[in-house]
Amino acid sequence: MPKLTINEKICTHCGLCAKGCPYGIISLPDGAVPCYIAGGSDRCILCGHCEALCPTGAIVVNDPRLDPTTYESGLADIEPERLGRYLRMRRSIRRYREESIDKAVVGDLMDIVRFAPTGGNRQPVRWLIIHDTQELRRLTAMVVDWMRSISGSDSPFAARFNLPVMIGGWEEGRDYICWNAPHLVIAYAREDIPVARTDAVIALTHLDIAAPSFGLGTCWGGIFQHAVNSWEPLRGALNLPPEHVSIHCLVLGYPAISYQRPPKRNPASIVWR
Ligand SMILES: Cc1cc2nc3c(=O)[nH]c(=O)nc-3n(C[C@H](O)[C@H](O)[C@H](O)COP(=O)(O)O)c2cc1C
Repeated sequence: MPKLTINEKICTHCGLCAKGCPYGIISLPDGAVPCYIAGGSDRCILCGHCEALCPTGAIVVNDPRLDPTTYESGLADIEPERLGRYLRMRRSIRRYREESIDKAVVGDLMDIVRFAPTGGNRQPVRWLIIHDTQELRRLTAMVVDWMRSISGSDSPFAARFNLPVMIGGWEEGRDYICWNAPHLVIAYAREDIPVARTDAVIALTHLDIAAPSFGLGTCWGGIFQHAVNSWEPLRGALNLPPEHVSIHCLVLGYPAISYQRPPKRNPASIVWR
């Protein structure tokens, strides 16, 4: 159960911790330091906003589930112009260098991704990182097996994608599924937490956005995920824990191409009220 530790010497009684608590479970008794209301600790979702808001660092949330690592403080100070350029230049990468990414680098990337928002701060997303490129090729070959099994059928997937080209390409060493990327990052979660699907897509989006700042490229594995949903041998090979499902995935590697300018996009479709 979480506990609040208050440094009474530096608490200014400003009340920002109580005001910032999304569940209203921190009270500030007259002249005293902040504390949980009765039963509050049971309902604390460990979002840490009380701690993050405190101007003097007087309040600390303690819970054995929390990673104690602390990071440099400071306001998010990137200007819209720079951020806009960065986001507009992010691309789906479909050509990769034959070079593995050090696990420590992937770890640094995932250390950013774990700060993505999750419903009720439940943090239900788990990761399966296929770091071994040979293993990724083995799994991709299973996607091709699935394609062969539906090729020529009335499956909507077979109608939408050019399966003969994809299957033939694979046989000749061209990978239209994972683009010969060295790695694949799969986000999975318990299937009985409906919001976990949204959480996983948000976390993958953070990964997708953060990767270029490490010099890395990504591409969403929509076809791979479709095959996971449809092909039992591939699901079996992933060997996720019982009651867990793969939600979506991204291939990851060092890009072998660089884009010179953003492509054009549709205007934003907005209704103002
Ligand atoms: C949910 C999702 C699934 C995708 N699946 C694939 C895929 O299986 N293969 C692929 O090459 N690109 C895939 N993409 C990439 C899209 O084709 C790409 O985002 C789109 O063409 C826009 O290009 P950009 O990402 O460079 O802006 C996927 C993207 C999303 C968001």
